[in-house]
Amino acid sequence: MKRPAVIPQQIIARKRDGDTLSAPELEALLTGYLDGQVGDDQMAAFLMAVYFNGLGDAELDVLVEVMLHSGDMLPRGGVRAPRVDKHSTGGVGDKVSLVLAPLAAEMGLVVPMMSGRGLGHTGGTLDKLESIPGFRTRISLDRFDRILRSVGCAMIGQTEEIAPLDRRLYALRDVTGTVPSLPLITASIMSKKLAESLDGLVLDVKVGEGAFLSHIDRARALARAMAGVGAARGLAVTAVLSAMDRPLGRTVGNALEAREAVECLAGGGADDLRELVTELAAEMSLAGGLVPDLDEGRRKAGETLAGGGALERFRRMVAEQGGSLDLSCDGYGLPAAPATEVVTANRAGVVAGINPRALGYGIIPMGGGRTRQDQDIDPRVGFELEVRVGDRVARGDPLAVVHGSTRDDLFIGARVVVEAVTIGDLPGSEPLPLIIERITA
Ligand code: URA
Repeated sequence: MKRPAVIPQQIIARKRDGDTLSAPELEALLTGYLDGQVGDDQMAAFLMAVYFNGLGDAELDVLVEVMLHSGDMLPRGGVRAPRVDKHSTGGVGDKVSLVLAPLAAEMGLVVPMMSGRGLGHTGGTLDKLESIPGFRTRISLDRFDRILRSVGCAMIGQTEEIAPLDRRLYALRDVTGTVPSLPLITASIMSKKLAESLDGLVLDVKVGEGAFLSHIDRARALARAMAGVGAARGLAVTAVLSAMDRPLGRTVGNALEAREAVECLAGGGADDLRELVTELAAEMSLAGGLVPDLDEGRRKAGETLAGGGALERFRRMVAEQGGSLDLSCDGYGLPAAPATEVVTANRAGVVAGINPRALGYGIIPMGGGRTRQDQDIDPRVGFELEVRVGDRVARGDPLAVVHGSTRDDLFIGARVVVEAVTIGDLPGSEPLPLIIERITA
């Protein structure tokens, strides 16, 4: 058997004790993990040490480089249009990518989107896409390139060829409580995005209880760290800080969110989802040089979304990736839970808050998220919110519909809704503005 190039426990202990690791030490640990010399247990302990003690700039740089070069870069192919992507730091009810990728493609950009699965209490774009019957997020890079040429957008997960180290660390962080770490989020997102060979990147950095780094100062620091990593490698990054003190849109749960995304592409959907999508599409078109300023980008995004071409592009992308949607029927052919239950207000008052984290964690015991790396999830379960923060309700008014596969799911889900939705005599603290601020490198 090959001898390990490092003594993993020694490096883990140094990070645990707050020491700074040298580049060779960190590189050896990470490459040892990639080639099987370092186990999941050791990497989980290392990630927890990083969670508590952080990484210095030089250590972060090594992590990004090793993650980026653990695989290849996506080929740029022969497409001439500007190549721009967006990535979110993770939220609850965040189905933006499903709407934004085809919208940005319809506006004239190429969007080679590499996404992740559910992480911690947040949902993942890959899981939402895979709720569409037949949709394949693992396709060959040749096929990915062909779809990009013909449709303008394609959506895949990290593969053995592209950012494999992120794929493995991401899955491990999901089930070990090591997600909310500024350097780990920075390296995870930026390694994937740098591997996409982009001309521009827009980051949606979430702020509030449903975000990984909930406080605005931490979110700003995260945005600056990611923009800095991009700038050092020649990639222009714009970060939009957006509200995650309540769920985004009206649904939480994979198939329910896919349905809401299609509704938005069809001209409906929740106002906040539409507004955020429009803002991010404006940023992407500015980053790609399609518009002279953000106002023009917003105008163009709104017009394009209303025109219906983005929905048709989404349908084509889904079909090219093996999926089938029936846009002529109510649920679009998405899987639906066999049972639902309406949860009603037990008192009159004002909806003072809807805790996104409670909903995000609440879906896991219903089968909608993972507690182990290898678990399958049930795409059908989730919550459909009937109220927004600030709404007045009477006793008995519906708060949410729980979608479950079993009676137990409905019971768990109903308790989660009661815990997540606070009804008071007075409005709660002022909600965050949906779009908070913009940060560039
Ligand atoms: N999204 C990612 O891709 N990685 C993270 O660590 C968090 C959100």
